[in-house]
Amino acid sequence: MSKEKPRILLVEDNLLVSTALQDILGEEGFDIQCAGTGKEAEAMIKDASFNLVLLDLMLPDTNGKTLLSKWKSEFPELPVVLMTAHGDIPTAVECLRLGAYDFLTKPVEKPLLLKTINNALNHSAITKKVTVLQELTKREVNYEQLGDVIAVSAAMTKTFEILKLVAQSDYSCLLVKGESGTGKGLLARTIHKMGGRADKPFVEVNCSALPPNLIESELFGHMKGAFTDAKENKIGLFEMADGGTLFLDEIGDMDYNLQAKLLKVMEEQKFRRISGTKDISVDVTIIAATNQNIEKLVSDNKFRLDLYYRLNVIPVEIPALRERKEDIAALASHFIKFFSRKFGKKISGFSQEALDALMVYPWPGNVRELRNTVERACILTRGEEINDLEILFPAAALRQPESLVSSPSPSPAPAASPAVVESPAEGPATGFTMPPMPLADAEKLVIKSAMSEAQGNKNKAAAILGLHRTTLYKKLEEYGMS
Ligand SMILES: Nc1ncnc2c1ncn2[C@@H]1O[C@H](COP(=O)(O)OP(=O)(O)OP(=O)(O)O)[C@@H](O)[C@H]1O
Ligand SMILES: [Mg+2]
Repeated sequence: MSKEKPRILLVEDNLLVSTALQDILGEEGFDIQCAGTGKEAEAMIKDASFNLVLLDLMLPDTNGKTLLSKWKSEFPELPVVLMTAHGDIPTAVECLRLGAYDFLTKPVEKPLLLKTINNALNHSAITKKVTVLQELTKREVNYEQLGDVIAVSAAMTKTFEILKLVAQSDYSCLLVKGESGTGKGLLARTIHKMGGRADKPFVEVNCSALPPNLIESELFGHMKGAFTDAKENKIGLFEMADGGTLFLDEIGDMDYNLQAKLLKVMEEQKFRRISGTKDISVDVTIIAATNQNIEKLVSDNKFRLDLYYRLNVIPVEIPALRERKEDIAALASHFIKFFSRKFGKKISGFSQEALDALMVYPWPGNVRELRNTVERACILTRGEEINDLEILFPAAALRQPESLVSSPSPSPAPAASPAVVESPAEGPATGFTMPPMPLADAEKLVIKSAMSEAQGNKNKAAAILGLHRTTLYKKLEEYGMS
């Protein structure tokens, strides 16, 4: 929030009164500006960002009540304190109904004046906090907390060490790169929690989820009437994240023009709501994430170089799961604990065979896919150990070597000649398709699955695979599975 002096607009036509008030309030450290007429006040309130208005009821060109009701709809968050010369209680009460914060009778006494002003300023700060909290609560509901970040591999433990150091400094921004499902979102939340802003808001927004103009109004907020649907003033995510962290997910998809606005806010730490006239100062740390090759986006002129430089001061790269296989077992058992508790089961772990299968699979969907796979296995498994490979990797895919090696590109549209449907190499009926992987790995998986189905009987397994017995024996030997 702004650490500047609170700015007060005094609307008062009596020069003696306004000079006196200006002296008192100036001495007390307020930044005070005066308007002698309604017209002047109207012009000033549009251009400057006031924290409070002191408004006289009787003005030469209009009255305070009219101004008050107008301003309450234009600037509903701005506290207005009325001053009345006559102790005109009925009018004052009416004004309170219209939304005035309080009223003072003239001559105004200094202690009461200061007390009222400070109350009004505190009240408006609290009101804003409440709005922010309400908005934050609305946004929290979808977030499922899975607890700790698992890091066993050298690559991840090193990344984590770096993040711990970063979190202890008051970093201004951070760029997290990694394929989809590698844990960028989780790391962003974790680093926020490890740092000095842990008790302040963590606000996230997915830059590819909404069209650019909506993202802009999400980020910066807007004033009533800024566009057709702007029925109310709306607080933006930057304001909500004040003091805390704003997580910009899928930053690579952010609109090019909006990128420039973002950079400006990051540099100045202030901005305006859409069609707002008031600068809003914020203190926000940015964590951005992308699963795209952002350097390529820069060279294709889709991502601004200046913003890239600014964000990339501390780059954090999370490797794909297949490049840190040491994490697989630990993650899998972490997820087993989580889901067996969630489903009220007593699942202790995986069979060696199942673990082997988890290790050879290339996990194109990274940790998210592993988590989903373990969740499915926990739902379907009856025993205490997950040993059924068909549960981990649905069987149909494993038994069809064709589908394992077929290219990942979409199968040709059948629409042209629906009469000739010949290809059994499409996916299995379950809709499960195997991602591309080295042929040898796929073969190992298929053989494991057949051996498990045949309960270790090699002759039976050979029959399932359509192989000669000796061919299977050779392969088992070759893969060290015999
Ligand atoms: N190291 C980890 N330890 C524990 N859980 C993890 C880890 N990495 C990822 N996860 C879990 O895997 C899932 C996917 O992670 P997350 O949503 O953070 O990925 P992401 O990189 O943000 O993906 P996307 O690019 O698709 O948004 C989440 O449920 C997360 O809790
Ligand atoms: Mg994510």
